Amino acid sequence: MSKILIVYSSQDGQTLKICQTLQAEIETVLYQVTLTSLDAADAIDFSLFDKIVIGASIHYGHHDAGVHALIKRHQTLLNSKPSAFFSVNIVARKPGKNTPETNPYLLKFLKKIAWKPKLLAVFAGKLDYPSYSAFDRWMIRFIMWLTKGPTHPDAVIEFTDWHQVQAFAQQIIKM
Ligand SMILES: Cc1cc2nc3c(=O)[nH]c(=O)nc-3n(C[C@H](O)[C@H](O)[C@H](O)COP(=O)(O)O)c2cc1C
Repeated sequence: MSKILIVYSSQDGQTLKICQTLQAEIETVLYQVTLTSLDAADAIDFSLFDKIVIGASIHYGHHDAGVHALIKRHQTLLNSKPSAFFSVNIVARKPGKNTPETNPYLLKFLKKIAWKPKLLAVFAGKLDYPSYSAFDRWMIRFIMWLTKGPTHPDAVIEFTDWHQVQAFAQQIIKM
């Protein structure tokens, strides 16, 4: 049975939810999926897996620094196997910024790493003002106001396109 490792970097849980959906979809065919957080990934031997997937969310313009460190540590191995990366951010809710070729965070990220993932994706994340700290809520509402997004302080909106996530799972199976 082929083995797939999925590593997630998720602050508020949406990237984890996307990874769990990928896992459920991939496990419908004969694959064994190991899902692990960025923090727990150090204890894992990447060489034991046939394919590797890394997913990370954006906060204040950046993926977690630990994602860069993980990729640097494993870049030779990552480049030697079928591998995929996806980014989760709220800018990706906008047509024209929702593909690997057009999402500014993913484009910037790819310039900084020596890993060339075979597959790339960008998913729109979740907005959940009530769960944010007062500072974060104010900041994100301000950014949303600038970009003509929802600003009501009670807004909870999941922009993630789950059909797109399922299609990505199929691409992972085939890669
Ligand atoms: C404090 C904070 C900062 C954020 N900064 C950005 C940002 O700079 N650009 C963006 O597109 N989305 C931004 N987001 C939206 C997140 O990327 C989105 O909520 C995503 O679903 C978070 O994924 P996670 O739950 O896996 O951490 C921010 C969200 C929060 C709470």
